[in-house]
Amino acid sequence: MNKFSRIGFIFAAAGSAVGLGNIWKFPYITGEYGGGAFVLVYLLCIVFIGLVVFIAESYLGQASEANVSSTFIKMSKTKNPNWKYAGFMVFAGLFILAFYSVVLGWILNYIIVSFGNLPNSAQEAGNSFNTLISEKIGLQILLHSIVALITIFIVLKGVKDGIEKINLILMPLLGIIMFGLLAYALTLDSFSKSIEFMFRADWSKIDENALLAALGQAFFTLSLGIGTIMTYSASLPQKNNFIKSSLYVAIVDTTIAIVAGLIIFSFLFAAGAKSSAGPGLVFISLPVIFEQWGTLGNIIAVAFFSALLFAGITSAVSMIEPVLMLFIERFNMTRKKAVATCGSIFYIFGIIALLSLSSSYKESLTFFGKNAFDWMDFLTSSISMPIAAIITCIFLGFFVDKEKIKNKFTQHVPVAIFNIWYVLVKYIVPLAVIILLLNKLGIIK
Ligand code: PHE
Repeated sequence: MNKFSRIGFIFAAAGSAVGLGNIWKFPYITGEYGGGAFVLVYLLCIVFIGLVVFIAESYLGQASEANVSSTFIKMSKTKNPNWKYAGFMVFAGLFILAFYSVVLGWILNYIIVSFGNLPNSAQEAGNSFNTLISEKIGLQILLHSIVALITIFIVLKGVKDGIEKINLILMPLLGIIMFGLLAYALTLDSFSKSIEFMFRADWSKIDENALLAALGQAFFTLSLGIGTIMTYSASLPQKNNFIKSSLYVAIVDTTIAIVAGLIIFSFLFAAGAKSSAGPGLVFISLPVIFEQWGTLGNIIAVAFFSALLFAGITSAVSMIEPVLMLFIERFNMTRKKAVATCGSIFYIFGIIALLSLSSSYKESLTFFGKNAFDWMDFLTSSISMPIAAIITCIFLGFFVDKEKIKNKFTQHVPVAIFNIWYVLVKYIVPLAVIILLLNKLGIIK
């Protein structure tokens, strides 16, 4: 198998982690939950839950060098073949990719729009976004198709020539754009307000919903619970320090999220706009602000939406790769055939997702008060990802030989670190996630 280079792995895993979750979702949920206190809760979730699960997935992948199903069988003490069912977690990737590709399509649209006339009032911006998602079905299908083709083209080439290469190009570009945008934000008077908003704790909006949102976001942003990190780590050279790489990835991911927040809030506050605009924040509030800045605004808009696109593409490829590897290894499929199968599934579900937002098909594609788009998001981010994380932790804690794990960890870190991680993975994380999950489903209050 073609392995990642050391730096290639870090870029690819960071590329997977840094995505729409960081630049689009993190700022708007931070805005909704009032800023600083939420950021703090989120950081705690990243360190004590996200990073712990990340290291767990990375360990399993590197130690087994196999697809997710085989990883669970191979690593279990008894080699019980029923562990193959844990491999189901990878299918969540196709459903995330379905709606993710639709959102990337909107972003593509905004890159094009940013070259021309941006909306000059909040109302016009709102109208044009709403018209895009509710009326322009053909355009959205076209955009979704372009994104799907780009994704398919990259994964067809495999881990080394496709995924590693694209990450080595797009991630530095993303870094440069984010740095440039931050430099510009720093020149604005509103930058200090943005810092204050993101780091001054206002605990009044922190309730169980905020905790759940922070935890869900920690999983989503670190690409956990669908086998991505396990699959990428299976291509990590054996000598590599997987704990250090995990730490780097978590640091890069968190830094980009915070920087994205600082940039976006500086822009919003510069125009006196609200921080709590929800999902439309980057599609409605920002374009109006860019418009007020004239040509410079156009340049910033193109840069901003390109950053989103680059971040999203490197995440998109990582959602499909776990399923591909599973199909290739377990069902002896060629990569081409696996890509054709998985590509068609996510492509079709993407179309269902976008139709479910349109005014013509909304009604027939809404079930129990939630449209298909939201269902795909809910069933993956809120249900399947946390369950997969619980399974992974319990598996490591109770069904894998502790000495074997310890041996591998102590090649890289002192035994004390291993012990802390082990207690977290075996008891604390699964318990915390189970409680939060039951709470979210309304089973306990
Ligand atoms: N981490 C990505 C983001 O923040 C999303 C993602 C989830 C990627 C799951 C891969 C697997 O946008």
